[in-house]
Amino acid sequence: MKQSRGIIERFREFLPPCERVVSLGEGGTPLVPAPKLTERVGRGCQVFIKNEGLNPTGSFKDRGMTVAVSRALDRGARALICASTGNTSASAAAYAARAGIPCAVVLPAGKIATGKLIQAIAHGARIVAIDGNFDDALRIVRELGGENEFAIVNSINPDRIAGQKTAAFEIINELGEAPDFHFLPVGNAGNITAYWAGYREYHSRGKSTKLPAMIGLQAAGAAPIAHNKIVENPETIASAIRIGNPASWKQARAALDESKGAIDIVSDEEILAAQTWLASNEGIFVEPASAAPIAGLLKGGIKLREGSRIVCTVTGHGLKDPDVIQRRFGQLESVSAKIDNVRRAIGF
Ligand code: F0G
Repeated sequence: MKQSRGIIERFREFLPPCERVVSLGEGGTPLVPAPKLTERVGRGCQVFIKNEGLNPTGSFKDRGMTVAVSRALDRGARALICASTGNTSASAAAYAARAGIPCAVVLPAGKIATGKLIQAIAHGARIVAIDGNFDDALRIVRELGGENEFAIVNSINPDRIAGQKTAAFEIINELGEAPDFHFLPVGNAGNITAYWAGYREYHSRGKSTKLPAMIGLQAAGAAPIAHNKIVENPETIASAIRIGNPASWKQARAALDESKGAIDIVSDEEILAAQTWLASNEGIFVEPASAAPIAGLLKGGIKLREGSRIVCTVTGHGLKDPDVIQRRFGQLESVSAKIDNVRRAIGF
């Protein structure tokens, strides 16, 4: 039987030491060629999608969580705590359950996608919904985390970044080289920081000869890095990246500058159109935030060198946020159970 080894077992030499490994077999996600997207982009470029929605809890957070939770246990933490727009809480709750320690999650009330909240409930997290946004939740968690009994498992914890950088390793291992461009959504800015660290580390070990330009995408109503200004009341349909004051802002800025990359903005309409386009043309269903890099690529705002290899990370599974699709496409209407009616309803 093929064992599902998690990222700690596979990349131990690149990670901080973990004694008690808490793993759900995260990482090893597919890097899928995207022929239709490749065709849309043109210019002899080739587009690949790193499908992080296929991690154990359906998002990239699991890569960081396995390291953060393993090391929290090694340090003797009695409980985990995080603020979240949804995916971090789902992941923290699952890894806490696996580790056998309690997990508290602080969430902006009414702003968490249904599937993510269901995950946190199912895994037995203690959920606190606050009248405030993610930035308020993170401020509270930082204060509580200072009290020592809690281990904070947000991406302000460097163990999270260490785990998440392994996605860049996998991409280089698979392509045999770094891509020319790497597109990904930016919220709290931990993931762009992690990828850039991963690319740099593999490059310095001689595993790639080049470094990609990092291209971050923010939603128009929540684009503090793009506008170089805190957004007091961030708003976007892509609730995962509804963040006005990213914790890793400086690190993201450094990644963008050092890699000669760029940060671009996409509207909610462009995000939803890209989500639908990707699901119906490439067979990959992602949540709205994850469609932001696809929207950015389709929009064509970034100048791409001819013949470039482009990787887009899609960060979370589409099933996490069913309401967005249901609101847009409505409920199914039934027809009577007769073959003629069914044929007519099919319409082709
Ligand atoms: N995509 C998804 C699906 C996310 O859940 C997040 C962040 C991001 C992109 C942005 O990543 O914050 O590292 O820049 N979600 C966090 C959460 C904030 O609480 O689940 P980032």
